[in-house]
Amino acid sequence: MSARDEHLDLDDIQGVVLSGYGELPQASFVMLAFGDPELARGWVGRTAQGIASAAVGRPQGSSRVHLAFTWPGLEHLELSWQALKGFSREFREGLAGSSRRSRILGDSGDSAPEQWRWGGPGGSVIHALLMCYAATPEALEALLAEQREALAEAGIEALETLSSQPLPGGKEHFGFRDGISQPKLAGVSTSQDERQRVAPGEFVLGYPNARDQLTMRPMVDPIEDPDDLLPEVTLDSDLHDLGRNGSYLVFRQLSQDVHGFWSWLDAATPDGEARLALAAKMVGRWPGGEPLVKAPQQPAGDGTDNDFGYHHEDAEGLKCPLGAHIRRTNPRDMLPPKPGTEDSLAINRRHRLLRRGRAYGPPLAESLTPDDLLAAADDGAERGLLFLCLNADISRQFEFVQQTWVNNANFAGLYADSDPLIGARGEGQATFTVPAEPVRQRCHDLPRFVQVRGGAYFFMPGLRALRYLAASPRRLTSAVSAPAMPATLLPDTWWLRSARGLNVALETGIGVTRRFTRLRNVFDRAFQQPATDAVQGIILRRRRRHAIDADLAIAAERRLAGEEEVTRRITEQMTAFLLRTYRQGTAERAGNTKTYGLLEAEFEVLELPDDLRIGLFREPRRFDAWVRFGGPGPRVTPDIRNNGVLSLGVKLSGVPGETLLDDEDHTQDFSGISAPTFTTPDVFENAKLQRLIGVGLPVWYFLNPFDSHYLDMLLQALYAKAHGSPFEASYWSCVPYLYGKGRAVKYRFVPLLASQSRVPLPAPDDYLRLAMLRTLDEVEEVVFEMRIQFQEDPVTMPIEDASVIWTSPEIPVARLRIPRQTFATPERDRLARELTINPWHALPEHRPLGNQNRARKQIYYETSRVRQRINGEEHFKP
Ligand code: HEM
Repeated sequence: MSARDEHLDLDDIQGVVLSGYGELPQASFVMLAFGDPELARGWVGRTAQGIASAAVGRPQGSSRVHLAFTWPGLEHLELSWQALKGFSREFREGLAGSSRRSRILGDSGDSAPEQWRWGGPGGSVIHALLMCYAATPEALEALLAEQREALAEAGIEALETLSSQPLPGGKEHFGFRDGISQPKLAGVSTSQDERQRVAPGEFVLGYPNARDQLTMRPMVDPIEDPDDLLPEVTLDSDLHDLGRNGSYLVFRQLSQDVHGFWSWLDAATPDGEARLALAAKMVGRWPGGEPLVKAPQQPAGDGTDNDFGYHHEDAEGLKCPLGAHIRRTNPRDMLPPKPGTEDSLAINRRHRLLRRGRAYGPPLAESLTPDDLLAAADDGAERGLLFLCLNADISRQFEFVQQTWVNNANFAGLYADSDPLIGARGEGQATFTVPAEPVRQRCHDLPRFVQVRGGAYFFMPGLRALRYLAASPRRLTSAVSAPAMPATLLPDTWWLRSARGLNVALETGIGVTRRFTRLRNVFDRAFQQPATDAVQGIILRRRRRHAIDADLAIAAERRLAGEEEVTRRITEQMTAFLLRTYRQGTAERAGNTKTYGLLEAEFEVLELPDDLRIGLFREPRRFDAWVRFGGPGPRVTPDIRNNGVLSLGVKLSGVPGETLLDDEDHTQDFSGISAPTFTTPDVFENAKLQRLIGVGLPVWYFLNPFDSHYLDMLLQALYAKAHGSPFEASYWSCVPYLYGKGRAVKYRFVPLLASQSRVPLPAPDDYLRLAMLRTLDEVEEVVFEMRIQFQEDPVTMPIEDASVIWTSPEIPVARLRIPRQTFATPERDRLARELTINPWHALPEHRPLGNQNRARKQIYYETSRVRQRINGEEHFKP
């Protein structure tokens, strides 16, 4: 699929994305706070019906409304957790969400969010933005009255109404023609100007962007969209696309000090012509719009000429200064390393903005001519620009432009400037440099002419997504007794103490049996497989008899009633455990806790037949990888006393394409344990086990006669043992993953190492790490083979039940090569703590499947955040 031939679903895109609505000069923007979610959803649904799509064409004499949401607004509408997490980090955090963000944007001093009139900290939380456009003031008033009534009925509060006031000649308040240069969307615009053509995916989500990739966007499980309201993801994946046809909308109220602007110019150069020329140099265009690159000496009338670059026409900035507003906000072909080439334009295309701003407040002088603006007395009125822009990636586009170009003192080889028109004036940034022959001119002490008064980041969904937001979420009620009470709150009764004592005795007994490893190996060779088959036979007989999951297609999932609630409780319990246990120390993982070693590795995709060339496995190549060998949790114990199940976490970096979680880019994680079945068949049983771990009674989970898990226990017992070395165990994924559309696989990492290490007696606390060190002393590399197994039958190879071993043939697809290296260092151990292995760090083609995987998304994400917070560590991205 290429950026050129992609066909846009115009009838699903809100009209304002593709048109600035010049025909509707009157506009009001209403910031909303929802009340009752049900009523709010109803209102969204009704409003959506009146929203014109981009297919409707230019508005004639009518009015238009459009709708966008903040992240808290989407949360308020009870969008599912999975969908909410799919939005970009900066959108979730919000425009005023952190001091880091304010620094990036230059929002300091009088522009700091604390000073804002709306959208700042401490103010009312904005949930949505209603955009109203009309041809005349009367039509706008009528539209607003109608909307106010509808809002009141739905219990929605209008927090702030910002009305624009159109200025003559399409000008902004400083007196310059605005809205001339816009990117032209490939496939939509008829413009022949290649330099302005940009892939639609730079502004509309769900389409290839300028790099021919799909920008990250929220998606939902098909089961969360039973009525198929949303479009399907166009990749090899069955997810439904909440982001497609939507766009992120940046909204900033920018106040302009028009009197200050012209007074400063007057003080800088009292000569009328020179003053006008300097003002034009600050913008990069004359007030009438002519670009300085084309008309460097004097204004050449009104113009909307946009057919120019900088490198060949004006590399030194002698016509249009290097730091002029339009040159900073769109450097065109002047970007290094190869200015003047297609490469330079290609970089620039990644940072374009689709502007939809409108002026507000009365003009300082009606005519808006420089002379009249200069002559006018300061009236103290509030005026400026309601800056609105659309982009697919706020961080890469709007924030980048603002930080790296507008407010960067070192832009284009300058060193003490910022954008002369709109820039923040941080330390040493109050200069404007005008390149000239023989010597450049430098203007000093530029005040900040533009201040921020408020703002927010919004998401403007496609029309189908709006209908999805309006539909009631499926209310999930727990059918199961998931963990009810945090363990710490349980009474310390005598029977609980005795039960714990019994548990310790049993665990110790199991531990002792583990020391007879030689005997155990003999047993395994003779009985492990037949015993596994027997247990599996019993489980499968039950599944066949009740035709469990027989109605599911291959790779199809089934959401279990109440699973979200249970997941939430497991997460709460695990984070509570971390906080309780590690408050004063270094927090470890809540599961798979002990790290035996974090090692650098190479992941080598094998030469595969065509039908296996999917996603990561598309072509034979190598990826850099980290491999973590770990042991069970939740506490760190001497190796011999662990429960005998080892774990493997693999993180590949440099993976082309976006992952399903946005905390990392271009990674693909795999994980497995040294048993072919998971300890628990599903998330409900997992919740029970977690609760019993919390009260110190894990063995009771298996033995409780009223709710026994004997078969699971047998399977675990068959594979849990004192391992000789983490390099010698097989690691099964246990839970399934998508392998392109409509296919599901489980995988296993099988060691190709021939040796069999003994468990030393007495065993040092870290004997497993010692075994790894010894091996890497002896061999050049340790190799694991990754093998996949396809799901062939929904009953006997289920997606939702991790206690069933799939029996289809194993197919080798990759090799994991771990070279000789030094890994037992404090730095590596710290890195291991910061590293987050999450099955959702995956390409959409390899999306995790099944309830335990769905739960892992939330559990891993939240617990790793808590862990990193306790330790004051950063999230480690390779
Ligand atoms: C009150 C604040 C602002 C004023 C008065 C202002 C004014 C102008 C003017 C007069 C132009 C030239 C006309 C045109 O090419 O459309 C322009 C262009 C532009 N402005 Fe602004 N602007 C403001 C804020 C911003 C901000 C905050 C950004 C983005 C961070 C921005 C991005 C752009 C871009 C991308 C262009 C087009 C450049 C090109 O393609 O050549 N502007 N602005």
